[in-house]
Amino acid sequence: MLLTEKEVLVDFRREVNASNRFMDASGARCEVLFSCSTFAHLNRGLIAAVESLSFAKKKIMLNIVLFGPPGAGKGTQSVHLVQSYGLVHLSTGDIFRSNIKGNTELGQMAKSYMDQGQLVPDDVTIKMLESEVDKHPDAKGFIFDGFPRTSAQAEALDAFLDARKTPVTCMLALEVEEEELKKRLLARAETSGRPDDADPAVIQKRIGVYKAETAPVAGHYALQGKFTGVDGIGTVEEILERLKAAIAH
Ligand code: AP5
Ligand code: MG
Repeated sequence: MLLTEKEVLVDFRREVNASNRFMDASGARCEVLFSCSTFAHLNRGLIAAVESLSFAKKKIMLNIVLFGPPGAGKGTQSVHLVQSYGLVHLSTGDIFRSNIKGNTELGQMAKSYMDQGQLVPDDVTIKMLESEVDKHPDAKGFIFDGFPRTSAQAEALDAFLDARKTPVTCMLALEVEEEELKKRLLARAETSGRPDDADPAVIQKRIGVYKAETAPVAGHYALQGKFTGVDGIGTVEEILERLKAAIAH
């Protein structure tokens, strides 16, 4: 049975509305773009109409802010998310540590803050993060691990990504209670060589700074409807599955 042009339009719009956002094989978000002018020539059934259209596929980057207090498992989970989704992992803590190792000017400056459990100043951190993002023009997306950590950083990240038309997709916040965080960090101190893990007073300071300066950043993304809390207790695999479910949602 042949449909009228109007019926085809109505059916097709319903179909597109139901399916215009989906994950492709790599896990990147894709969006189907279509041209209404094509409809002028349609007078066939819906399936034939859909097949006859030329779809343009535009990649939408998957930009995840992986959030949580010190020791929540951001770094651990990032490794797995990178494998699953082919994203670029940017950990501001790791970048600072690599600068400390290389004894750069930035590293020397950052060390004085990190060893005390304090945040490195916003202007330096934002500039560093932006330059790291720009090193990956072909990225499918990013995992921001440990950034943004202040409201000023969140605003800077939004403005920076908006200018590149690739906003933050979601903030996934690993939720772990304080006693478990301390236990994990003290255990890691045995092998990590991180001065900020070795001293319980510095761990306490990091947790305090998180509560005072970083936790409010969750509200920034909640207001945008992008915040999801994820239970960070369990095996690494269990938590990874929760994160993947939140990404797919
Ligand atoms: P950063 O390096 O980001 O440290 P952090 O946020 O304090 O967090 P961690 O890296 O210690 O923990 P994590 O959540 O990555 O957990 P992980 O997977 O390692 O920052 C360090 C410093 O740099 C800051 O204090 C600040 O000075 C500076 N800095 C960084 N970013 C900044 C910014 N944006 N602005 C200003 N300053 C900045 O896991 C921890 C341990 O737990 C590991 O041993 C792991 O094996 C274990 N573990 C992981 N998952 C589990 C699990 N499910 N069960 C049991 N154990 C687990
Ligand atoms: Mg980390």
